[in-house]
Amino acid sequence: MIRPLAFLAALGLVAGTAQAADLARAEAIVSQVCHLCHGKEGENSNAVYPRLAGQSAAYITKQLTDFKSGLRKGTMNSMAEGLDEADIAALGAYFSSKPPQAHRVSEPEFAAVGEYIYKNGNKWSGVASCASCHGAEAAGTDTLPRLAGQHARYLVIQLKDFNTRERTNDNAVMQSIASKLTELEIEAVARYLSGK
Ligand code: HEC
Ligand code: HEC
Repeated sequence: MIRPLAFLAALGLVAGTAQAADLARAEAIVSQVCHLCHGKEGENSNAVYPRLAGQSAAYITKQLTDFKSGLRKGTMNSMAEGLDEADIAALGAYFSSKPPQAHRVSEPEFAAVGEYIYKNGNKWSGVASCASCHGAEAAGTDTLPRLAGQHARYLVIQLKDFNTRERTNDNAVMQSIASKLTELEIEAVARYLSGK
């Protein structure tokens, strides 16, 4: 006898159905809650709320898990409280599939300073090249966050919070990098990235 599930799986239909269910799950949560601050497609224009469109799915999953456990503190703690593991995975897949957008950047000369730092770091103060981890196009990797197209103001806040250890879920890597950046370098690199 052919078992129906095995038969469907052989056709790839079970995987397809599971994906559709995850998408529906994510869409329901986004339209109830997340869209208020992040936009329906993760494209929100308010600079305090990070853009999620095109963000790495694994990174979103890690952040939501850290918000839920309280390891990363902020507005998001209460939003993540009610999400279970399947919700979190579905939300990561949902937002990562949305198209990212770049901001229009003023003062290109200033953004060019940021581009230099992003690509080369600052060998005189011992800052590593951001591109060596976040990728040449700042598109992130499987596990590291995308920075391209993010709001400059949000990026500045995160770099300062890493430095002061207000953002506590990554004390190791980003704390030591952020602690070596000057105010000008932080503003310049954030300006550059928002326009990528
Ligand atoms: C009331 C506004 C608000 C709502 C609603 C909201 N968020 Fe957030 N979210 C924020 C803010 C603000 C941050 C930036 C971190 C902080 O300050 O806590 C953030 C950060 C995040 C991050 C981390 C992004 C990064 O680049 O590190 C993720 C992922 C996220 N939110 C997902 C969600 C999801 C999924 C929902 C719906 C369940 C949601 N948010 C609902 C305000 C909100
Ligand atoms: C050695 C690898 C490494 C280098 C070099 C690096 N980063 Fe990161 N960065 C990380 C990791 C890992 C995270 C994710 C932390 C977490 O999981 O919370 C991160 C997170 C960030 C975030 C938070 C993104 C968000 O959506 O909230 C910003 C902003 C950032 N990095 C900027 C920079 C800048 C600017 C540079 C260069 C001056 C840089 N990083 C260099 C590894 C690196």
